Amino acid sequence: GVPSPAADAALLAAHALRVEVSELHRRALLGAPAPDGLDALVAWRAQRVPLQHLTGHAHFRRLDLRVGPGVFVPRPETEVLVDLALRDLARPVSERDGDADDAGPLVVDLCTGSGAIALAIAQEHPGSRVVAVELAPPAADYAAANIARAALDVELRRGDAVEACPDLEGLVDLVASNPPYVPDDAVPIDPEVRDHDPAAALYGGPEGIELPLRIAGRAATLLRPGGVLLMEHGERQGDSLLTGLAADSRWIEVTDHLDLTGRPRVVRAVRAA
Ligand SMILES: C[S@@+](CC[C@H](N)C(=O)[O-])C[C@H]1O[C@@H](n2cnc3c(N)ncnc32)[C@H](O)[C@@H]1O
Repeated sequence: GVPSPAADAALLAAHALRVEVSELHRRALLGAPAPDGLDALVAWRAQRVPLQHLTGHAHFRRLDLRVGPGVFVPRPETEVLVDLALRDLARPVSERDGDADDAGPLVVDLCTGSGAIALAIAQEHPGSRVVAVELAPPAADYAAANIARAALDVELRRGDAVEACPDLEGLVDLVASNPPYVPDDAVPIDPEVRDHDPAAALYGGPEGIELPLRIAGRAATLLRPGGVLLMEHGERQGDSLLTGLAADSRWIEVTDHLDLTGRPRVVRAVRAA
């Protein structure tokens, strides 16, 4: 049932040998034996333990992040949200309505998990000041470790996104968020997700949009006029999330954006004046 068994086996073997996959293939061609410990790793993977929990790391854009039990494994589709954020941050300061003496855009990542979005923005938009907020202690511990390893300008704040950063109200240029958005009774089919991603990272309320809308409400308080919210959502939630945001007069220009497979996955909204 593992969707990509050959690729996963190669990654596990490379992990066991502490080499890159290219070196693994070179050794395999030379007839090297399977590494010690590979059987056990393959057995765990066959039981649908996530590959990233077995190797202890996940790739996200240019980052190599530490992950494991207790933290959400960052997904490729979330990289699209980072692309959209970078596009907004690249707009000239005058167009962004900011202060010409701006030291750099202020970005808040609400529900940071491993720190993936916050770190990617800090890395790919040098000069930005990024604050990352996470409530679950195990996830926040991973974020702290990833921030320390990356040595990027990201400040971690442990706490509830719904009331985060009172000192930054009205000052933030961009809020990014990949919040929990699975409806409470829509238990995921994939065992890797259902059994290994933390419940606090998945479920967003009866329709899945209740917590996202509360987090968006907090974003509206944090953003300056003209500031931008980017929020990931489930592929069937575009309409309800857009409707919820459009009903709040604090938002204008509410639009939905597609992921790399053409499905609507990221809502963008601008804070009204
Ligand atoms: C879907 S995961 C996303 C993690 C990360 N942003 C990413 O894209 O990989 C959602 C995260 O939100 C955190 N979370 C859930 N409710 C929260 C809240 N009220 N305040 C802050 N973080 C919260 C979860 O612990 C989890 O780490």
